[in-house]
Amino acid sequence: MCSRPLPLRAMHNIADFEAAARRRLPRGLFAYVARGAEDDLAVRANRDAFAEIRFRPRVLADVSRRRLHTRILGREQGLPLGVAPTGPPGFLWYQGELALARAAAHLAIPMILSSASTISMAELMRAGGEGAKWFQLYMSGDRALSVALIDKASRAGFEALVLTVDSIVSPNREFAAKSGYTVPPKITLRIAMEALASPRWLMGTIGRYLLAGGLPRMVDYPLPDPRDPLKHGIPLKDDSISWDTLRTIRKRWPGKLIVKGVLDPRDAMACADAGVDAIIVSNHGGLVLDGAMATIEALPAIADAVGQRIEVYLDGGIRRGSDVIKAVALGAKAVFLGRSLLFALAAFGEIGVIRALELLRGEMDRTLASLGCSELSELTRDHVVLPGERYARRLSSDTRQVRRR
Ligand SMILES: Cc1cc2nc3c(=O)[nH]c(=O)nc-3n(C[C@H](O)[C@H](O)[C@H](O)COP(=O)(O)O)c2cc1C
Repeated sequence: MCSRPLPLRAMHNIADFEAAARRRLPRGLFAYVARGAEDDLAVRANRDAFAEIRFRPRVLADVSRRRLHTRILGREQGLPLGVAPTGPPGFLWYQGELALARAAAHLAIPMILSSASTISMAELMRAGGEGAKWFQLYMSGDRALSVALIDKASRAGFEALVLTVDSIVSPNREFAAKSGYTVPPKITLRIAMEALASPRWLMGTIGRYLLAGGLPRMVDYPLPDPRDPLKHGIPLKDDSISWDTLRTIRKRWPGKLIVKGVLDPRDAMACADAGVDAIIVSNHGGLVLDGAMATIEALPAIADAVGQRIEVYLDGGIRRGSDVIKAVALGAKAVFLGRSLLFALAAFGEIGVIRALELLRGEMDRTLASLGCSELSELTRDHVVLPGERYARRLSSDTRQVRRR
Protein backbone atom coordinates (compact mmCIF):
# COMPACT_ATOMS: atom_id res chain seq x y z
CA MET A 1 0.00 0.00 0.00
CA CYS A 2 1.01 3.60 -0.58
CA SER A 3 2.38 5.14 2.63
CA ARG A 4 4.20 8.35 3.47
CA PRO A 5 7.92 8.09 2.74
CA LEU A 6 10.47 8.62 5.52
CA PRO A 7 13.32 11.08 4.84
CA LEU A 8 16.87 9.89 4.22
CA ARG A 9 17.95 11.20 7.63
CA ALA A 10 15.59 8.67 9.25
CA MET A 11 17.70 5.81 7.82
CA HIS A 12 20.03 4.47 10.49
CA ASN A 13 20.91 1.05 9.17
CA ILE A 14 20.32 -1.33 6.28
CA ALA A 15 17.14 -2.68 7.89
CA ASP A 16 15.68 0.85 7.67
CA PHE A 17 16.48 0.92 3.95
CA GLU A 18 14.86 -2.49 3.52
CA ALA A 19 11.66 -1.20 5.16
CA ALA A 20 11.75 1.95 2.99
CA ALA A 21 12.25 -0.15 -0.18
CA ARG A 22 9.30 -2.31 0.83
CA ARG A 23 7.16 0.84 1.07
CA ARG A 24 8.20 2.21 -2.34
CA LEU A 25 8.26 -0.92 -4.51
CA PRO A 26 5.36 -3.02 -5.78
CA ARG A 27 4.96 -6.07 -3.55
CA GLY A 28 6.13 -8.66 -6.09
CA LEU A 29 9.16 -6.61 -7.13
CA PHE A 30 10.25 -6.19 -3.52
CA ALA A 31 9.96 -9.97 -3.04
CA TYR A 32 11.97 -10.51 -6.22
CA VAL A 33 14.87 -8.64 -4.60
CA ALA A 34 14.48 -9.80 -0.99
CA ARG A 35 13.69 -13.47 -1.42
CA GLY A 36 15.69 -16.44 -2.70
CA ALA A 37 14.90 -19.82 -4.20
CA GLU A 38 12.33 -22.33 -2.91
CA ASP A 39 12.10 -22.02 0.91
CA ASP A 40 14.67 -19.20 1.40
CA LEU A 41 16.87 -21.54 3.48
CA ALA A 42 20.11 -20.23 1.97
CA VAL A 43 19.02 -16.57 2.30
CA ARG A 44 18.37 -17.13 6.00
CA ALA A 45 21.52 -19.24 6.47
CA ASN A 46 23.72 -16.37 5.21
CA ARG A 47 22.29 -14.03 7.88
CA ASP A 48 22.04 -16.60 10.69
CA ALA A 49 25.66 -17.66 10.26
CA PHE A 50 26.86 -14.08 10.77
CA ALA A 51 24.65 -13.72 13.83
CA GLU A 52 26.22 -16.86 15.36
CA ILE A 53 29.77 -15.48 15.20
CA ARG A 54 30.88 -13.49 18.24
CA PHE A 55 33.79 -11.16 18.87
CA ARG A 56 36.70 -11.59 21.27
CA PRO A 57 37.96 -7.98 21.68
CA ARG A 58 41.39 -6.85 22.88
CA VAL A 59 41.66 -3.73 25.06
CA LEU A 60 44.05 -0.84 25.88
CA ALA A 61 45.45 -0.86 22.35
CA ASP A 62 45.45 2.91 21.48
CA VAL A 63 43.25 2.82 18.41
CA SER A 64 43.04 6.61 18.03
CA ARG A 65 44.41 6.47 14.46
CA ARG A 66 42.27 4.09 12.47
CA ARG A 67 41.80 3.42 8.78
CA LEU A 68 39.75 0.96 6.79
CA HIS A 69 42.10 0.90 3.81
CA THR A 70 42.83 -2.17 1.76
CA ARG A 71 44.41 -3.13 -1.57
CA ILE A 72 42.27 -4.92 -4.15
CA LEU A 73 43.97 -6.35 -7.23
CA GLY A 74 46.74 -3.80 -6.96
CA ARG A 75 44.49 -0.78 -6.31
CA GLU A 76 44.44 1.12 -3.02
CA GLN A 77 40.91 1.68 -1.76
CA GLY A 78 39.47 3.27 1.34
CA LEU A 79 37.01 0.50 2.21
CA PRO A 80 36.98 -3.31 1.82
CA LEU A 81 33.64 -3.11 0.00
CA GLY A 82 32.32 -3.45 -3.54
CA VAL A 83 29.01 -3.47 -5.41
CA ALA A 84 27.87 -7.02 -6.32
CA PRO A 85 26.44 -7.58 -9.80
CA THR A 86 22.65 -7.78 -9.85
CA GLY A 87 20.00 -7.78 -12.54
CA PRO A 88 17.28 -5.47 -11.21
CA PRO A 89 18.81 -2.01 -10.45
CA GLY A 90 17.30 -0.54 -13.61
CA PHE A 91 13.83 -1.70 -12.54
CA LEU A 92 14.16 -0.32 -9.01
CA TRP A 93 15.35 3.19 -9.90
CA TYR A 94 15.62 5.12 -13.15
CA GLN A 95 19.00 4.10 -14.63
CA GLY A 96 19.73 2.30 -11.37
CA GLU A 97 23.09 0.89 -12.50
CA LEU A 98 24.36 4.42 -13.11
CA ALA A 99 23.19 5.49 -9.66
CA LEU A 100 25.06 2.54 -8.13
CA ALA A 101 28.16 3.29 -10.19
CA ARG A 102 28.21 6.96 -9.16
CA ALA A 103 27.80 6.02 -5.49
CA ALA A 104 30.61 3.44 -5.81
CA ALA A 105 32.83 6.05 -7.50
CA HIS A 106 32.04 8.51 -4.67
CA LEU A 107 33.58 6.07 -2.18
CA ALA A 108 36.18 4.76 -4.69
CA ILE A 109 35.08 1.12 -4.44
CA PRO A 110 34.67 -1.40 -7.29
CA MET A 111 31.39 -1.78 -9.12
CA ILE A 112 30.55 -5.02 -10.92
CA LEU A 113 28.18 -4.53 -13.85
CA SER A 114 25.86 -7.52 -14.38
CA SER A 115 25.50 -9.36 -17.68
CA ALA A 116 21.80 -8.60 -17.29
CA SER A 117 22.35 -4.84 -16.98
CA THR A 118 19.97 -2.35 -18.56
CA ILE A 119 22.81 0.20 -18.90
CA SER A 120 25.35 -0.36 -21.63
CA MET A 121 29.01 -1.00 -20.87
CA ALA A 122 29.89 2.27 -22.59
CA GLU A 123 27.44 4.30 -20.47
CA LEU A 124 28.80 2.76 -17.30
CA MET A 125 32.37 3.58 -18.26
CA ARG A 126 31.28 7.16 -19.04
CA ALA A 127 29.94 7.45 -15.47
CA GLY A 128 33.67 7.44 -14.64
CA GLY A 129 34.93 8.47 -11.23
CA GLU A 130 37.26 6.61 -8.94
CA GLY A 131 36.80 2.95 -8.16
CA ALA A 132 37.36 -0.01 -10.46
CA LYS A 133 34.75 -1.12 -13.01
CA TRP A 134 34.39 -4.88 -13.44
CA PHE A 135 32.10 -6.81 -15.78
CA GLN A 136 30.20 -9.94 -14.68
CA LEU A 137 29.74 -12.69 -17.26
CA TYR A 138 27.21 -15.49 -17.45
CA MET A 139 28.33 -17.93 -20.11
CA SER A 140 25.72 -18.44 -22.78
CA GLY A 141 24.93 -21.79 -24.37
CA ASP A 142 26.05 -20.11 -27.58
CA ARG A 143 29.81 -19.77 -26.99
CA ALA A 144 30.31 -17.38 -29.89
CA LEU A 145 27.96 -14.89 -28.19
CA SER A 146 29.93 -15.15 -24.95
CA VAL A 147 33.24 -14.64 -26.70
CA ALA A 148 31.79 -11.54 -28.40
CA LEU A 149 30.72 -10.24 -24.99
CA ILE A 150 34.15 -10.90 -23.44
CA ASP A 151 35.82 -8.99 -26.27
CA LYS A 152 33.30 -6.17 -25.96
CA ALA A 153 34.00 -5.83 -22.21
CA SER A 154 37.71 -5.75 -22.94
CA ARG A 155 37.30 -3.03 -25.58
CA ALA A 156 35.07 -1.02 -23.21
CA GLY A 157 37.97 -0.90 -20.72
CA PHE A 158 36.76 -3.08 -17.82
CA GLU A 159 39.65 -3.94 -15.50
CA ALA A 160 38.33 -7.33 -14.48
CA LEU A 161 35.98 -10.01 -15.74
CA VAL A 162 33.87 -11.75 -13.08
CA LEU A 163 32.74 -15.17 -14.28
CA THR A 164 29.67 -16.36 -12.35
CA VAL A 165 29.78 -20.16 -12.10
CA ASP A 166 27.02 -20.99 -9.61
CA SER A 167 23.95 -20.20 -11.70
CA ILE A 168 23.98 -22.75 -14.50
CA VAL A 169 20.28 -23.69 -14.43
CA SER A 170 17.30 -21.40 -14.10
CA PRO A 171 16.49 -20.98 -10.40
CA ASN A 172 13.32 -22.28 -8.80
CA ARG A 173 11.83 -19.02 -7.54
CA GLU A 174 8.29 -20.22 -6.96
CA PHE A 175 6.98 -17.01 -5.43
CA ALA A 176 8.11 -15.13 -8.55
CA ALA A 177 6.37 -17.57 -10.85
CA LYS A 178 3.20 -17.22 -8.74
CA SER A 179 3.29 -13.42 -8.68
CA GLY A 180 4.17 -13.14 -12.39
CA TYR A 181 7.62 -11.61 -11.89
CA THR A 182 9.25 -13.76 -14.53
CA VAL A 183 11.99 -13.23 -17.10
CA PRO A 184 10.94 -11.66 -19.41
CA PRO A 185 8.33 -9.80 -17.30
CA LYS A 186 4.68 -10.07 -18.28
CA ILE A 187 2.17 -7.36 -17.42
CA THR A 188 -0.61 -9.26 -15.66
CA LEU A 189 -3.64 -7.75 -13.92
CA ARG A 190 -2.02 -8.50 -10.57
CA ILE A 191 1.24 -6.74 -11.52
CA ALA A 192 -0.71 -3.75 -12.85
CA MET A 193 -2.69 -3.49 -9.57
CA GLU A 194 0.49 -3.71 -7.51
CA ALA A 195 2.13 -1.02 -9.64
CA LEU A 196 -0.86 1.30 -9.19
CA ALA A 197 -0.57 0.80 -5.43
CA SER A 198 3.07 2.00 -5.62
CA PRO A 199 2.72 5.46 -7.21
CA ARG A 200 6.16 6.75 -6.20
CA TRP A 201 7.82 3.84 -8.02
CA LEU A 202 5.39 3.97 -10.94
CA MET A 203 5.96 7.67 -11.61
CA GLY A 204 9.58 7.98 -10.48
CA THR A 205 10.94 4.89 -12.22
CA ILE A 206 8.59 3.57 -14.90
CA GLY A 207 7.16 7.03 -15.72
CA ARG A 208 10.65 8.44 -16.32
CA TYR A 209 11.54 5.57 -18.65
CA LEU A 210 8.36 6.08 -20.64
CA LEU A 211 9.10 9.80 -20.96
CA ALA A 212 12.64 8.95 -22.09
CA GLY A 213 11.45 6.59 -24.80
CA GLY A 214 10.77 3.11 -23.42
CA LEU A 215 11.12 0.50 -20.71
CA PRO A 216 14.58 -0.78 -19.71
CA ARG A 217 15.95 -3.95 -21.32
CA MET A 218 19.21 -5.89 -21.36
CA VAL A 219 21.28 -3.78 -23.70
CA ASP A 220 24.64 -5.43 -24.12
CA TYR A 221 23.88 -9.10 -23.99
CA PRO A 222 24.12 -10.33 -27.57
CA LEU A 223 20.90 -12.34 -27.81
CA PRO A 224 20.37 -14.65 -30.78
CA ASP A 225 17.01 -12.92 -31.28
CA PRO A 226 16.69 -9.67 -29.27
CA ARG A 227 12.92 -9.45 -29.96
CA ASP A 228 12.37 -12.86 -28.36
CA PRO A 229 15.05 -13.36 -25.67
CA LEU A 230 13.85 -16.82 -24.70
CA LYS A 231 13.48 -18.21 -28.19
CA HIS A 232 16.60 -20.35 -27.82
CA GLY A 233 16.16 -21.17 -24.12
CA ILE A 234 17.32 -18.91 -21.31
CA PRO A 235 20.40 -17.32 -22.85
CA LEU A 236 22.18 -16.54 -19.58
CA LYS A 237 22.39 -20.15 -18.44
CA ASP A 238 24.88 -22.75 -19.58
CA ASP A 239 25.08 -26.07 -17.73
CA SER A 240 27.98 -27.31 -19.82
CA ILE A 241 30.63 -24.90 -18.48
CA SER A 242 33.70 -26.72 -17.16
CA TRP A 243 37.32 -26.15 -16.15
CA ASP A 244 38.13 -26.20 -19.86
CA THR A 245 35.74 -23.26 -20.36
CA LEU A 246 37.54 -21.38 -17.58
CA ARG A 247 40.95 -22.05 -19.16
CA THR A 248 39.65 -20.81 -22.53
CA ILE A 249 38.35 -17.61 -20.92
CA ARG A 250 41.67 -17.13 -19.11
CA LYS A 251 43.45 -17.24 -22.48
CA ARG A 252 41.01 -14.83 -24.11
CA TRP A 253 40.60 -12.21 -21.35
CA PRO A 254 43.67 -9.97 -21.00
CA GLY A 255 42.75 -8.35 -17.66
CA LYS A 256 42.14 -9.67 -14.15
CA LEU A 257 39.89 -12.71 -13.94
CA ILE A 258 37.63 -13.42 -10.96
CA VAL A 259 35.43 -16.48 -10.40
CA LYS A 260 32.20 -15.83 -8.48
CA GLY A 261 30.28 -18.59 -6.72
CA VAL A 262 32.86 -20.86 -5.06
CA LEU A 263 32.04 -22.66 -1.79
CA ASP A 264 34.48 -25.61 -1.76
CA PRO A 265 38.24 -25.23 -1.12
CA ARG A 266 39.03 -27.84 -3.82
CA ASP A 267 37.32 -25.64 -6.42
CA ALA A 268 39.15 -22.61 -5.01
CA MET A 269 42.49 -24.42 -5.50
CA ALA A 270 41.54 -25.41 -9.05
CA CYS A 271 40.69 -21.74 -9.77
CA ALA A 272 44.12 -20.68 -8.52
CA ASP A 273 45.75 -23.40 -10.67
CA ALA A 274 43.80 -22.13 -13.71
CA GLY A 275 45.39 -18.67 -13.36
CA VAL A 276 42.43 -16.86 -11.80
CA ASP A 277 43.35 -13.68 -9.87
CA ALA A 278 40.60 -13.80 -7.25
CA ILE A 279 37.46 -15.67 -6.23
CA ILE A 280 34.21 -14.57 -4.63
CA VAL A 281 32.93 -17.00 -2.03
CA SER A 282 29.23 -16.78 -2.84
CA ASN A 283 26.00 -18.75 -2.96
CA HIS A 284 24.40 -16.17 -5.26
CA GLY A 285 22.57 -14.59 -2.33
CA GLY A 286 20.55 -17.81 -1.90
CA LEU A 287 18.90 -17.30 -5.29
CA VAL A 288 19.89 -20.60 -6.86
CA LEU A 289 20.69 -23.60 -4.63
CA ASP A 290 18.40 -23.52 -1.62
CA GLY A 291 20.09 -25.29 1.28
CA ALA A 292 23.56 -24.16 0.14
CA MET A 293 25.91 -23.54 3.04
CA ALA A 294 26.27 -19.99 4.33
CA THR A 295 29.13 -18.17 2.63
CA ILE A 296 30.80 -17.12 5.89
CA GLU A 297 30.86 -20.83 6.89
CA ALA A 298 32.66 -21.68 3.66
CA LEU A 299 35.19 -18.85 3.96
CA PRO A 300 37.76 -20.07 6.54
CA ALA A 301 38.65 -23.31 4.73
CA ILE A 302 38.88 -21.49 1.39
CA ALA A 303 41.04 -18.70 2.82
CA ASP A 304 43.34 -21.39 4.30
CA ALA A 305 43.56 -23.21 1.00
CA VAL A 306 44.24 -20.31 -1.40
CA GLY A 307 44.49 -17.05 0.59
CA GLN A 308 48.28 -16.88 0.04
CA ARG A 309 47.98 -17.39 -3.74
CA ILE A 310 44.95 -15.36 -4.85
CA GLU A 311 42.60 -12.77 -3.34
CA VAL A 312 39.50 -14.11 -1.64
CA TYR A 313 36.31 -12.03 -1.42
CA LEU A 314 32.89 -12.90 -0.01
CA ASP A 315 29.29 -11.92 -0.58
CA GLY A 316 25.98 -13.01 0.92
CA GLY A 317 24.09 -11.65 3.90
CA ILE A 318 26.23 -8.58 4.66
CA ARG A 319 23.89 -6.11 6.37
CA ARG A 320 26.16 -4.59 9.04
CA GLY A 321 29.68 -3.23 9.26
CA SER A 322 30.34 -5.89 11.91
CA ASP A 323 29.56 -8.57 9.29
CA VAL A 324 32.30 -7.10 7.11
CA ILE A 325 34.75 -7.19 10.02
CA LYS A 326 33.87 -10.84 10.72
CA ALA A 327 34.50 -11.73 7.08
CA VAL A 328 37.86 -9.92 7.04
CA ALA A 329 38.89 -11.63 10.30
CA LEU A 330 38.11 -14.98 8.67
CA GLY A 331 40.21 -14.29 5.60
CA ALA A 332 38.24 -12.12 3.12
CA LYS A 333 40.14 -9.29 1.43
CA ALA A 334 36.85 -7.52 0.64
CA VAL A 335 33.11 -8.16 0.62
CA PHE A 336 30.51 -7.39 -2.02
CA LEU A 337 27.07 -6.01 -1.29
CA GLY A 338 23.93 -7.15 -3.08
CA ARG A 339 20.59 -6.51 -1.40
CA SER A 340 21.92 -3.97 1.14
CA LEU A 341 22.57 -1.55 -1.72
CA LEU A 342 19.55 -2.62 -3.78
CA PHE A 343 17.29 -1.67 -0.85
CA ALA A 344 19.02 1.72 -0.49
CA LEU A 345 18.80 2.26 -4.26
CA ALA A 346 15.13 1.32 -4.43
CA ALA A 347 14.26 3.73 -1.63
CA PHE A 348 16.42 6.80 -2.42
CA GLY A 349 18.56 6.22 -5.53
CA GLU A 350 22.21 7.34 -5.57
CA ILE A 351 22.07 9.39 -2.34
CA GLY A 352 20.56 6.40 -0.57
CA VAL A 353 23.38 4.13 -1.70
CA ILE A 354 25.99 6.65 -0.57
CA ARG A 355 24.27 6.95 2.81
CA ALA A 356 24.09 3.13 3.16
CA LEU A 357 27.81 2.82 2.42
CA GLU A 358 28.59 5.59 4.91
CA LEU A 359 26.52 3.89 7.60
CA LEU A 360 28.37 0.62 6.96
CA ARG A 361 31.67 2.50 7.12
CA GLY A 362 30.73 3.96 10.52
CA GLU A 363 29.73 0.53 11.84
CA MET A 364 32.96 -1.01 10.58
CA ASP A 365 35.05 1.72 12.17
CA ARG A 366 33.36 1.34 15.56
CA THR A 367 33.71 -2.44 15.45
CA LEU A 368 37.38 -2.26 14.49
CA ALA A 369 38.09 0.15 17.36
CA SER A 370 36.19 -1.97 19.87
CA LEU A 371 38.26 -5.00 18.86
CA GLY A 372 41.46 -3.07 19.64
CA CYS A 373 42.59 -2.74 16.01
CA SER A 374 43.68 0.28 13.99
CA GLU A 375 43.92 -1.42 10.58
CA LEU A 376 42.06 -4.21 8.84
CA SER A 377 45.37 -6.07 8.50
CA GLU A 378 45.49 -6.42 12.31
CA LEU A 379 42.32 -8.53 12.35
CA THR A 380 42.91 -12.23 13.00
CA ARG A 381 40.83 -15.31 13.67
CA ASP A 382 41.38 -14.77 17.39
CA HIS A 383 39.07 -11.76 17.13
CA VAL A 384 36.09 -13.99 16.35
CA VAL A 385 34.51 -16.93 18.15
CA LEU A 386 32.84 -19.46 15.88
CA PRO A 387 29.81 -21.43 17.12
CA GLY A 388 31.73 -24.66 17.73
CA GLU A 389 34.46 -22.88 19.71
CA ARG A 390 32.31 -21.09 22.26
CA TYR A 391 32.61 -23.43 25.19
CA ALA A 392 35.54 -25.56 24.06
CA ARG A 393 38.20 -23.31 25.61
CA ARG A 394 36.31 -22.80 28.83
CA LEU A 395 35.71 -26.50 29.26
CA SER A 396 39.39 -27.40 28.78
CA SER A 397 40.60 -24.73 31.24
CA ASP A 398 37.91 -25.76 33.76
CA THR A 399 39.17 -29.31 33.49
CA ARG A 400 42.73 -28.15 34.13
CA GLN A 401 41.61 -26.23 37.22
CA VAL A 402 39.79 -29.29 38.57
CA ARG A 403 42.93 -31.37 38.04
CA ARG A 404 45.12 -28.80 39.83
CA ARG A 405 42.85 -28.83 42.83
C1 LIG B 1 17.75 -9.73 -7.27
C2 LIG B 1 19.14 -10.23 -7.46
C3 LIG B 1 19.68 -10.32 -8.74
C4 LIG B 1 20.98 -10.82 -8.92
N1 LIG B 1 21.54 -10.84 -10.18
C5 LIG B 1 22.80 -11.31 -10.35
C6 LIG B 1 23.44 -11.25 -11.63
O1 LIG B 1 22.88 -10.74 -12.60
N2 LIG B 1 24.69 -11.77 -11.72
C7 LIG B 1 25.37 -12.32 -10.65
O2 LIG B 1 26.50 -12.79 -10.79
N3 LIG B 1 24.80 -12.32 -9.43
C8 LIG B 1 23.55 -11.83 -9.25
N4 LIG B 1 23.01 -11.80 -7.99
C9 LIG B 1 23.80 -12.28 -6.84
C10 LIG B 1 24.63 -11.14 -6.24
O3 LIG B 1 25.69 -10.77 -7.09
C11 LIG B 1 25.26 -11.53 -4.88
O4 LIG B 1 25.92 -12.75 -5.02
C12 LIG B 1 24.22 -11.62 -3.75
O5 LIG B 1 23.21 -10.66 -3.91
C13 LIG B 1 24.90 -11.43 -2.41
O6 LIG B 1 23.98 -11.62 -1.36
P1 LIG B 1 23.25 -10.39 -0.60
O7 LIG B 1 22.17 -9.95 -1.52
O8 LIG B 1 22.73 -11.03 0.64
O9 LIG B 1 24.28 -9.33 -0.35
C14 LIG B 1 21.72 -11.28 -7.80
C15 LIG B 1 21.17 -11.15 -6.52
C16 LIG B 1 19.90 -10.62 -6.34
C17 LIG B 1 19.37 -10.48 -4.94
